[in-house]
Amino acid sequence: MTVKLLRGRLLSFKRAPQSLTDTDSYLYKTDGALLLDGGKIAASGSYADVKASAPEGTEEIDHRPHLIMPGFIDTHLHFPQMQVIASYAANLLEWLNTYTFPEECRFVESAHAQKIATHFYDELIRHGTTTAVAYCSVHKTSADAYFAEAMKRGMCMVGGKVMMDRNAPQGLLDTPEMGYDETRAVIAEWHGKGRNHVAITPRFAITSTPAQMEAAATLAREFPDLHIQTHLSENHDEIRYTCELYPEAVDYTDIYARYGLLGKKTLFGHCIHLSDREADAMSEAGSIAVHCPTSNLFLGSGLFPLKALSRREKPVRIGVATDIGGGSSYSMLRTMDEAYKIQQLLGERLNPLDSYYHMTLGNAEALSLADSIGTLETGTDADIVVLNAAATPAMALKMDVVKTLAEELFLLQTMGDDRSIVETYVAGNAMKAAL
Ligand code: GUN
Ligand code: ZN
Repeated sequence: MTVKLLRGRLLSFKRAPQSLTDTDSYLYKTDGALLLDGGKIAASGSYADVKASAPEGTEEIDHRPHLIMPGFIDTHLHFPQMQVIASYAANLLEWLNTYTFPEECRFVESAHAQKIATHFYDELIRHGTTTAVAYCSVHKTSADAYFAEAMKRGMCMVGGKVMMDRNAPQGLLDTPEMGYDETRAVIAEWHGKGRNHVAITPRFAITSTPAQMEAAATLAREFPDLHIQTHLSENHDEIRYTCELYPEAVDYTDIYARYGLLGKKTLFGHCIHLSDREADAMSEAGSIAVHCPTSNLFLGSGLFPLKALSRREKPVRIGVATDIGGGSSYSMLRTMDEAYKIQQLLGERLNPLDSYYHMTLGNAEALSLADSIGTLETGTDADIVVLNAAATPAMALKMDVVKTLAEELFLLQTMGDDRSIVETYVAGNAMKAAL
């Protein structure tokens, strides 16, 4: 692996910005540089300082005038749903039953899973995403394909074989024992290999019997450091049906709590319609509510109260994500544009600094991985995105009148997509150019 120096405008966050004028929350170097060595950031700072510390003959890549940021992180999406995107359904449950479950049945074939895995990682890289947290299908073959491809690309990925043993087609069901055994097998084969993290993944309470939830609880006890991912409170019909299936629980969140699944490493997709009690329980447990704006709008699920949940006396930790294929774009820029519009509809403001914090350090913190990803600090992994806010003629025209960093970020978020991603570096390697 060669040592290289990237020159450009560096932007990374130190903590969540309190306001648009909170300049202490981020580091911005107008003539900055990163030295990349052995997959890590070996030096980060002004071009003059980094250049002075670089070994003789270091390859120099000049990304000026573009922005250099930590690679984007997507904390919830579905690897087997690449061909589900743009399916015309009235709501979540119709969408799952009509399109999503039949499509996921195809992942029993490892050749199909491997083919889709190639496309999956290509899209992440094309859109500047360097880490993602995905649901595979119920089939172990899908998790094998997912993690094998992550290792080939050197990417830091979180994922899990879905556990589901009811309320779906036969080809998509395991049993409590199979769900347990195959999750253990996936952990044994893939967790800690390369940069892989295995997540315990009961799909949601509707598709797991109480016996399978017990199996998930056992896994959570046996592997307390693993991430857990599931869905919570996305759609009113879903909530009603779930509570009917678990009448002993006081609400939807309580179902997961009863099985020991509410903890600091649990990622709950959606969480749109939480009661105060549920938000308190999430906050006390330190669990993450993962906001998936393009999906919530596409499926008509509702408006996620991001700002209200963050400023509660007991705040709820928040992640942001695409939720492919309920979501409609692989781009975290498009995702945050829709997140912004949802807050507008709720009478709230989501400022651009906040958006970029969430896509990078915020999501790294949500995953408890901020010591290695989501920043440009020396010693962290060299996962980096290079952004061009003038990537299209219409964007370039608007850039002519942009005066501040915040305005530039907002333009990128409002009009940008994969065309704004100049390069995506994974562990120091330029991956987009190689696609
Ligand atoms: N709830 C359970 N499974 C799914 C899924 O695949 N997508 C979404 N959006 N919600 C779910
Ligand atoms: Zn989902």
